[in-house]
Parts: sequence; structure tokens; C-alpha cells
Amino acid sequence: MTAEACPLGRGGAAQAGLHAGLRYAGYLRLDQVLGAQAPLSADTAQPIHDEHFFIVLHQAHELWFRQWLVEAAAVLQADAQAPGFFTDALPKLHRMAEIQALLNQQLGLLATLDPLQFLAMRPLLGSASGSQSLQFVLMEATLGTLDEARAPQACTMMTPAESTQVLATCRQPTLHDQLARGLAAEWQRQQATPAAKACHAQWAQALTEREAAQGWPALALPAAFARLPRAAALAALLARSRSQPRERLIDDALDRLCQLEQLLHRWRLQHAEQVRELLDELPGTGGSSGHRYLSANAAAQPHSALRTLRQWAARPGIQVPA
Ligand code: HEM
Repeated sequence: MTAEACPLGRGGAAQAGLHAGLRYAGYLRLDQVLGAQAPLSADTAQPIHDEHFFIVLHQAHELWFRQWLVEAAAVLQADAQAPGFFTDALPKLHRMAEIQALLNQQLGLLATLDPLQFLAMRPLLGSASGSQSLQFVLMEATLGTLDEARAPQACTMMTPAESTQVLATCRQPTLHDQLARGLAAEWQRQQATPAAKACHAQWAQALTEREAAQGWPALALPAAFARLPRAAALAALLARSRSQPRERLIDDALDRLCQLEQLLHRWRLQHAEQVRELLDELPGTGGSSGHRYLSANAAAQPHSALRTLRQWAARPGIQVPA
């Protein structure tokens, strides 16, 4: 971007008029952002070099968590029944998935943390633990991978006010619910078309055949299917055909939702693995069994109904209507 094109460049400031005196550092509140790294070891006889890095890595995560939640809020506040819902939601879901991919990459930086320096600074952390990250839990509740039943376990390290906020979020429609609403509305709009009619008949037959087949319960589709309104499930299946630009758009949006779940799951697995490297069998500062607790938690993450449905629809032998 040239200096003229940049809103903080001279051209931008002159045009803005009102904010003519505004400077880069002021607009971005850099005094607060860059004044927020306060390594506790700095005031001790043995400052620990890697503590600054440890703090920045966590703070950068929290900033990206924040942006993820801002995008999610925009999708949730939109009218899911409006015809333009998926067109508006797609870029936001895309950005969220890119943020999550960035976080997964960022977590890889942990490999550069010197284990000895980390062990030396651990006593300084007291009982501060990643399980107190409110934004992380809110992301899961917003996505729909954390429900009201599992919320108390995720909130054991939270303050009462934070737990209340998490529970309230669990009671709100999730991103999954919102996309399912959009799909149901889409089905209503499309059901008169011949393509939708053919799709309905073909998927209904495929579902019945599969449900009757042996070994079927392992896929648990009936349960996933039941959690989705039938119209939403059918619209999701129709979108898999990708035969029209509109279906491609909807399928892309669903793909992003599934990607978000997968990437968050991978973050959890990677975090558990890196914690094993650093702590071995030591317990966490939050009092958990450390990597064993984190691995078990990652394994217990549920798949959403839409993700299960899409995995099922991608199986060999399932025919996508033309
Ligand atoms: C030296 C690096 C790290 C170690 C040793 C570590 C260790 C742990 C442990 C042991 C737990 C389980 C709770 C406990 O007993 O404390 C935990 C949870 C968590 N940590 Fe980390 N962590 C590290 C880095 C990070 C980073 C960079 C983030 C980024 C925000 C992070 C975010 C989280 C979150 C969100 C949880 C809750 C996960 C869940 O509930 O499944 N951790 N961490």
C-alpha cells in the first residue's frame, strides 16, 4: 500500500480532517498494547529471557481469539432467513478459518521455548493457566462444540462471572444453529425447483438404504440427522452437488464451518502434544494431569451434525444428484 493509499498516511489524514492530528501509535493504542508485556522474572535476580516470548505468544492468541469472536458475532447477528445470508457469511467464515489456521501455525512457535527456561519460570505463574482463557471457551460455545452439559467442566477454572457468561453463550444459537437456519430457509426457497425435488427423493432413498444397512450405527448419522431440521439437512446435502453457483456458495460456507471445527480440534491435539514435550508427566499449573487431561479433552470433542452429515455425503457409494 502506498503512503497516499494508507488511511494513516498523509493523504488519508488530510482527507479525514477531523483526525488530522492522529498518529499511527495513537490510533493503534500502541502504548497500551506494547506496554502490556510484563515478565515477572524481570524484577528478580535471574531474569528469564523466554518469558517475554511466552507472554507474547499467549497475548497474540488472545487478540486473534477476539477477532474470531467479532467475525462470529457478525454471522450470528445477521438474518439467517434473508436470501443474502450465505453471501455475507462466507467471507467472515473464511476469515475465521484463516485465523484458526494461523493460530495452529503460531502454536508451533512453542517448539522454540527453551524447556529449562520454561521450567525455571513456571513457579512464577502460580495457578494461572490456559484453562482460564475465557475467549477460548466462548469460541467453543459459539461454534457449538461446547454445550450446556459440558460447560461446567470447561469452567472449573473460571470466575463465577466468567462461568455465567459461558453458560449464557451456550444457551444462545450457535454458528452451527445459525447456518442450519439459513439452510432451512434456503430449502424453503428452493423446494419448488425440479433440482431440489430430485435431490430430495435421491437423498431420502440413500438415507433409508443406509439406515437399513448393517454396521450403520457406527456412523451415528440418524442422531446427527435428527439434530438438524430435515429441511436444513436436505439443503446441506443439495449444496454438496455444487451444480449451481448458489449451491457452491452455500457448500463453501458449510465447508468453512467444518474446517473451523477441524482446525480447532487440531490446535487442541497439537497443544496436548507440545505440553507433553515440555512437561512430560508434570501436572498443569491449573491442577490438571497436564498432557493426559488435554489429550482426553481433545478426544472428547463432538462432531457437529453438519460435519457428520457432510462426511457421510462424501463417502464412496453415496451418489450426489447431478
Ligand atoms: C509452555 C507452553 C504451555 C504449556 C506447558 C501449557 C500447558 C497447559 C496445561 C497443562 C493445560 C491444562 C490445564 C492446566 O492444568 O493448567 C493447558 C490448558 C490450556 N492452554 Fe496451555 N500450555 C501452554 C501454552 C499455551 C498457549 C500458547 C496457549 C494459547 C492461548 C494455551 C492455551 C490453553 C488453553 C485454551 C487451555 C484450555 C484447553 C482445554 O480446556 O482443553 N496454552 N495448558
